[in-house]
Amino acid sequence: MMKKYFGSFGGQYVAETLMPAVLELSAAYEKAKKDRKFWQEFDYYMQYYVGRPSPLYLASRLTAKIGGAKIYLKRDELNHTGSHKINNCIGQILLAKRMGKKRIIAETGAGQHGVATATVCALFSLPCVVYMGAKDVERQSPNVFRMKLLGAEVRPVETGSQSLKNAINEAMRDWIKNARDTYYLLGTVAGPHPYPTMVRDFHAIIGREAKRQFKKVERKLPDVLVACIGGGSNAIGLFHPFLKDKVRIFGVEAAGAASINAGSTAVLHGNKTFFLQDEDGQIQDAHSISAGLDYPGIGPEHAYLHETKRVEYVSATDEEALEAFQLLCKIEGIIPALESSHAIAFACKLAKKMKKNQSIIVNLSGRGDKDITTVAKHLGVRL
Ligand SMILES: Cc1ncc(COP(=O)(O)O)c(C=O)c1O
Repeated sequence: MMKKYFGSFGGQYVAETLMPAVLELSAAYEKAKKDRKFWQEFDYYMQYYVGRPSPLYLASRLTAKIGGAKIYLKRDELNHTGSHKINNCIGQILLAKRMGKKRIIAETGAGQHGVATATVCALFSLPCVVYMGAKDVERQSPNVFRMKLLGAEVRPVETGSQSLKNAINEAMRDWIKNARDTYYLLGTVAGPHPYPTMVRDFHAIIGREAKRQFKKVERKLPDVLVACIGGGSNAIGLFHPFLKDKVRIFGVEAAGAASINAGSTAVLHGNKTFFLQDEDGQIQDAHSISAGLDYPGIGPEHAYLHETKRVEYVSATDEEALEAFQLLCKIEGIIPALESSHAIAFACKLAKKMKKNQSIIVNLSGRGDKDITTVAKHLGVRL
């Protein structure tokens, strides 16, 4: 049996009416996980549809400018649909097909998970509904149109902070009502078991590739890994295959959404983990320039890795992310997602303090085309 908890974090805290659906999903994934054919199909789509392996690129001009450790970028922004999110979507759509589900629902923040879900639904001819906070619908409008072109219905969520937290609430409501024929394709390593484990398993391909690629070039392990954290899926994907190695690991939260550094334990969205909350236990709104990091919680495995001190959790501000965004554009010719820019900002700060013969791998989780209007607004540029 797969473990439902990471230390005291995780679990299956859902309404009684949803419990049969959660158990059905757990059993289906447990079976698929042991089936070689399932992983052969997954690998096929990773290679021929997603375009994996993504390159591990030594950002030599950035490294020279910063003047410290070598900065390598794991280029998951080059995946089909422009981010790491597609890895998980391929895995889950293959599972939904096995389970005989006829309709797919998802939540999205930055729209990248929505686009990746709409993409796999088009690929397998399944109807798709994506819940998205009304604020995010506005700031990620190119992705909203992409989802519609791919045949998905985008339902703006007007409640609460109108961002990712509320989109997840609505998706869970839909799942409760329609669990018999509907599959909830959750986009990060949060929610009730098996999502945190399952989504991690689909993204661990990032870390496995990075380890192999780095060893081939440098003949050793990297000194440091860095990734940004919304719910934590791209980060755990890179980190997991290195957890037993002698490598320092940093997760970078947005300063206004720092669930680990400014939050405490609570139960929401089916799992027990760290959330931003007030003294009465009310979940507080997160604030980040990047829609994908604008979530007041963090996946339960990260809560555990924090508690056991295996991974260090830090934060980067909107301003630092914007600066890193512009630097990578100008110096490397790569437009990074604002989410990934948080990781780049921290990696640059850290690299300065490290030796030239040391190396950092930064997960470049997505490309920044979707963020152009947000960045223009902050720089006072009218498009
Ligand atoms: C490019 C990109 N990176 C990172 C994230 C954050 O999600 P996670 O922490 O699950 O990787 C998102 C979320 O939308 C994203 O679009």
